[in-house]
This record gives sequence, C-alpha cells and structure tokens, in this order.
Amino acid sequence: MSLPLVFKVDSIRQDSPNLKTYVFKHNIRAKSGQFLMVWLPGHDEVPMSIGWQTKEEFHVGIADAGDCTHAIHENIKVGDKLGFRGPYGTSFDYKDVDHLICVGGGYGTPPMLNLAQRATELGKKVTVIQGARSADYLLYEDLFNQLGVELLVSTDDGSKGHHGYNTDVLEEHLSKIDRSENVCIYTCGPEVMMVKVAQIAEKNELKCQVSLERYMKCGFGICGQCCMDDSGIRICKDGPIISGEYALEHPEFGKYTRGQSGKVEK
Ligand SMILES: Cc1cc2nc3c(=O)[nH]c(=O)nc-3n(C[C@H](O)[C@H](O)[C@H](O)COP(=O)(O)OP(=O)(O)OC[C@H]3O[C@@H](n4cnc5c(N)ncnc54)[C@H](O)[C@@H]3O)c2cc1C
Ligand code: FES
Repeated sequence: MSLPLVFKVDSIRQDSPNLKTYVFKHNIRAKSGQFLMVWLPGHDEVPMSIGWQTKEEFHVGIADAGDCTHAIHENIKVGDKLGFRGPYGTSFDYKDVDHLICVGGGYGTPPMLNLAQRATELGKKVTVIQGARSADYLLYEDLFNQLGVELLVSTDDGSKGHHGYNTDVLEEHLSKIDRSENVCIYTCGPEVMMVKVAQIAEKNELKCQVSLERYMKCGFGICGQCCMDDSGIRICKDGPIISGEYALEHPEFGKYTRGQSGKVEK
C-alpha cells in the first residue's frame, strides 16, 4: 500500500475495559510486526499495530490512551471511516524458528496475535505468554484458542492464571522447553517488561526480537522524531522490530522516550 487509503469500520469488539478492536474488510498485505498510521480527521494520526489478519480483513486493537485514541473510542462507530498509511517498518523473522515464544502485555498483544496466526499457518509450535493487570484486561483468548497455541496467562491481581508477572511465567516455561529446537522469544508491551524479556533471553542464550514504540510523526524515516539514543536508529524504519540484544545496547531502552517536541520523557 503506497497511497493513503480510507476504510469503513466493519465491526467493533470491546475486548477489555480500555481496548476496542476495529475490523476492516481489506487485504492489508502487511508482514507480521509492521504498523499502520491511523488517521482520525480533525484530531491526529497515530501508529497502530495490526492484530488478526486474513486476505479478507484486518483488525486494529486501540487502547483509549489519550486525545486521538479517546476520540476514536467515542466517535467512531460501525460504518464510519478511518484513514490509513502503511504498512511500515520491519517485521518479525520466524522463517527458521521451530518454537516461537510470544510474550505480550497490554496493547502489545495484537502483534503477538498476528505473529501466532502466521506461525501456526506454517505449522510451527507457538507458546503465548500474556500478562495483564486483571482477568478482564486479557486480550483475544478466544482467537489464541482458535489457533490452538499454548496460552499461558498471568495477572497482577491473581484473578486469572499466574499471580504476578508474565516474565515469571517465561522463566518457568524456559526450564521446560526442548533446547534441540530452534527457539526464539518475541515480545511487545510495556518497555520495562521487554527489557526483562530481552535479559532473560540473553541469560538463557536464546534469540529474542522486541517490538519498540516511540513517538512517531512521518512513520517512514524522514522526520527523525523516533530516533533512539545512542545509535540514532529510526524506530519507524529500522524498527519497530529489532533484536533484543541490539535493544539492550541502547541506553534509553526501558529508561526514557521522547515526546512530541523531542524532549526526554521518563
Ligand atoms: C509501532 C507502534 C505500534 C503501536 N501499536 C498500538 C496498538 O496496536 N494499539 C494501541 O492502542 N496503541 C498502539 N501504539 C501506541 C499508540 O500509537 C499511542 O498510544 C497513541 O498514539 C496515543 O495517541 P493519543 O493521541 O490518543 O494520546 P496522547 O494524548 O497524544 O498521548 C498518550 C501517549 O501516547 C503517546 N503518543 C501519542 N502520539 C503518539 C505517536 N504519534 N506515536 C507514538 N506515541 C504516541 C504519547 O507519548 C503518550 O505517552 C503503538 C505505537 C507504536 C509506535
Ligand atoms: S517518525 Fe519520522 S523518522 Fe520515524
């Protein structure tokens, strides 16, 4: 897709108290892990990952996080239109991987669903480890179950699954996996969680790919808004997917990001 396009919302699912999934009938032809710039006229244009994706439709899971996303939640109904640019950015590499371990949290779960869907289509073994603050914030359990993946969950309040963090579940799970297989850990979610996941992968000598998020304007590498210290990589173009090992080399990973003006925000 090269020109901006406008699609009608086909249906909307309320998947958690603060996240709605918007379904569009279009073959978006994105690679797993890529993102779209979603435009709400009169408000803003914001980057969003792609969740469930088939030749007939694609899903975008939008959390009510601020001005633009709140306006989408409040104003956009079935039959209304949103604008799209993209897909942009790098994608997950899973070609030679036998066992994918996908660790998601919050609105980092939609790209994990997309990856699980693609990998199961190729007959690969997939374990999804999803963390949420409580049971009603867990996302897409029905779709993960439909794919037949191994789904392990954790909640901060213990209302479902492991009482604690999904990184505890990851460490426990790694003690049981078959190391003769080619295993890779994939993660998307809060950056403090991804730092921990990348460190666990490093400690266990396993490959890891992280999906990073930075404030984006152009979305395709020209404005320099989303550069990361110290390497200067542009997360919209050289990311959002980079290796966990490379992410850990960046002093800002898990520590700070930059807002709309470029000012550091912790
Ligand atoms: C590659 C990528 C994929 C993403 N995927 C999803 C997703 O699947 N679902 C989801 O709910 N959210 C996703 N986000 C986050 C989403 O883009 C922001 O939550 C959204 O832009 C908030 O906009 P707002 O106007 O509602 O909030 P604001 O009131 O503007 O700000 C709320 C927060 O969002 C951040 N933010 C605002 N605008 C941007 C922007 N243009 N780029 C990055 N961050 C911004 C702000 O720094 C602030 O921390 C993704 C972000 C990136 C970079
Ligand atoms: S958002 Fe413009 S270079 Fe990344």
